Amino acid sequence: PEGTAGVVRAYIENKLHADPVVPQKYFYVGSMFRYERPQKGRFREFMQFGAEVFGSARPEADADLIAYAVTFLKSLGLGDVVVEVNSLGDEASKEAYQTTLKAHLKAHITTMCADCRRRYETNALRILDCKVDADHVAIKEAPKPLDALTREDREHFETLQRYLSGQQIPYTINPALVRGLDYYTHTVFEIKVSEALLGSQNAICGGGRYNGLVASLGGPDTPAVGFSFGIERLIVAMKAAGIPVKAPYTHAFLVVLGDEARAEALALMQRLRLDGLTCNTDFVDKAIKGQFKQADHQGARFTLIIGPEEIERRTVNINDRETATSTTVAFDAVPEFLKDKIKTNHRRKKEAHHGDPSQQ
Ligand code: HAM
Repeated sequence: PEGTAGVVRAYIENKLHADPVVPQKYFYVGSMFRYERPQKGRFREFMQFGAEVFGSARPEADADLIAYAVTFLKSLGLGDVVVEVNSLGDEASKEAYQTTLKAHLKAHITTMCADCRRRYETNALRILDCKVDADHVAIKEAPKPLDALTREDREHFETLQRYLSGQQIPYTINPALVRGLDYYTHTVFEIKVSEALLGSQNAICGGGRYNGLVASLGGPDTPAVGFSFGIERLIVAMKAAGIPVKAPYTHAFLVVLGDEARAEALALMQRLRLDGLTCNTDFVDKAIKGQFKQADHQGARFTLIIGPEEIERRTVNINDRETATSTTVAFDAVPEFLKDKIKTNHRRKKEAHHGDPSQQ
């Protein structure tokens, strides 16, 4: 159903805890499967990518991870999000709370939905976020996990909030947020986009701390925290917000004229790739016009024209399609020229981004 337990299993099995790097950070992408009632934004097979951080019990790790997730969304253009946070405290606080909650619900449980009645036995905390019984007086008046925190738990949560404010992360405390998985301790969070974009299944990212999971699966006592994004929901939200989902993935398309140019282009592409630039050329003997069209389809920022004249002069004609400028550059200087252009442009975009309040 999710990737966290699998990452923890790999962490233990491969003795990754012996690595001197602390904390250790992992990511994953993959299909997840859940037996749930399919509806808009909720599937039985869906994709997630997630990040997990092992070895730090400090709220700095929670704050950094939440900020990372928000920064990622901003970089996609989905900066208008709300982070809901809550704390469940450590294992002992959680257990004590569960007992208090069950005592509170005992008199009402027969009047609650079938799911709540089942959860009462398996994981009473989940009753708090029941959609069916959300307005039930027993839930509204129930004690909340925050009421059961110890002094240390509270300190952890308050420090996290201080860090979030310091990082200008827009967050709200949702005292009823308990999350669907049982392993959480301390911090839990969800990132939501507006219902206008996603409808009622508008949680795009969920996560939290799970200090007991590594030990409970047979590893050494290791605090950990992580998150996962739902990729389908991310795509739907981007489309609804008018953000192109297919990023332009080609920096440079090499337009070639003649066989000698093909050889030069193949060699130049290897050099560009070593510099981290994505590039492509013609592989199907298209005429010049067709090659320019390909550059277009692939969203290439630059077209590099190599023909007999360019080979003779050892220069390349570079067309920057973003700024509509054309420059003749010596062969050897092409990688630096392109990298420099991309960097300058990136800086310009960043400045524009910061200047635009709707993007903040
Ligand atoms: P989760 O909240 O169950 O957390 O799932 C994370 C995200 O996956 C959700 O916010 C949502 O975007 C997406 N998602 C979940 N279920 C579905 C579904 N049926 N259809 C489509 N998208 C869905 C976890 O899975 C935890 N492993 C997160 C975590 C990592 N906690 C600690 N580390």
